[in-house]
Amino acid sequence: MKLVVIGAQWGDEGKGKMVDYLAEDADLVVRFSGGANAGHTIKVGDQTFKLHLVPAGIIYPGKTVALGNGMVIDPESLFQELAGIKEQGVNWEGRVFISDRAHLVLPSYKQEDQNMESKRARPIGTTGRGIGVAYSRKADRDGIRVADLWDSVVWDSMKEEDRKWIQPYKNLLKDMKVNMAGFMMKNKDKQVLLEGAQGALLDLDHGTYPYVSSGISTCSGAALGAAIGPKHIDKALGVFKAYQTRVGNGPFPTEMLAEGSELDLGNQLRELGHEYGTTTGRPRRIGYLDLVALKYAGWVNSLDGYILSHLNLYDGFDKIEVCVAYEIDGVETIDFPSSTVDLDKVKPVLKALPGWEGKVGEARCWDDIPEAAKAVVKFIEEYTDVPVVGYSVGPLRDETFMKEPAWIKS
Ligand code: IMP
Repeated sequence: MKLVVIGAQWGDEGKGKMVDYLAEDADLVVRFSGGANAGHTIKVGDQTFKLHLVPAGIIYPGKTVALGNGMVIDPESLFQELAGIKEQGVNWEGRVFISDRAHLVLPSYKQEDQNMESKRARPIGTTGRGIGVAYSRKADRDGIRVADLWDSVVWDSMKEEDRKWIQPYKNLLKDMKVNMAGFMMKNKDKQVLLEGAQGALLDLDHGTYPYVSSGISTCSGAALGAAIGPKHIDKALGVFKAYQTRVGNGPFPTEMLAEGSELDLGNQLRELGHEYGTTTGRPRRIGYLDLVALKYAGWVNSLDGYILSHLNLYDGFDKIEVCVAYEIDGVETIDFPSSTVDLDKVKPVLKALPGWEGKVGEARCWDDIPEAAKAVVKFIEEYTDVPVVGYSVGPLRDETFMKEPAWIKS
């Protein structure tokens, strides 16, 4: 079976933690897009792992992981990350594979990324990791892929400083590189987890363009970025938080910006949820859960189910407000607009749902969830027409549970 997990908002929904949880029943975990702009935090016991490039399944001894052709890879960051997890006791040798069609991020791309950003009329708030430059080079057909390091024409055309920089990683990459299509074919009968990065609203096509990342972070990217056809994807799950966050610039229709209690709520959720970027440390912008955007994410990903995280942050609150429509120039809509001009004009139509007694944070199965919190979930399911099949109610592995099994046993 092939199971895809994507972010259904602007990234940072808790995908890394969910992939780690679901990886227990996977044989292979493949990351299909993005680069070291992503940050996945996984807590196991008293250890915290911060991953940027390596798929989250690596923490389990013996699991195989692969970095797909849809990714852009900075080898220096990759091997630093691998050295870091090794120090934390994870033996990764022999278990990490890399598509030889994945593009490389060269050191000069990072500076170029930042220079481009400084010249933009609409700065994106890029992480500055050279990701956009690597994807642009790929589309320009001037990129350098892992396989190209053994192509003498490409090698000779590279700048001396880039050749020197990559030389120490070349042999390591040689041992890890695979022809992804053949590799996936060999694993065709295995349980394969396809791990997304960023989120649907940061997707190059479906996100809030131009305030997006440059990879394909929706489910379609899972097939493309892992060298399989779309009909081989069996199930797609989207992770979302009970509120909305965004790092970097761009429209945010439900952002908590008004003075007074709204701003206080935003600040409170930021502290309770430790909403600071894993990659950049930037404070994340906070907003009300946006069901218009969530429904849209369900559509563009053909989601079979959602996984809801951070609902426990509302434990003890008297209500939870969610956005059920956008008002633009006095007209209400439930369609997610394409234009940033329209998105910037949105006045969110909020619906207040009652809070609950008891603690979602202490729930370990659906039956443990307080009734009023269950009513919130049912409201979301009815609005989006997608069931919520799993829950993350805290940072630890055992603070996670499924209402319906994620894996279909093969
Ligand atoms: P870039 O991909 O680094 O160029 O950044 C483009 C936009 O996507 C910026 O607003 C970033 O903050 C955002 N972004 C990129 N990766 C992530 C992520 O993993 N989580 C959340 N936001 C991200």
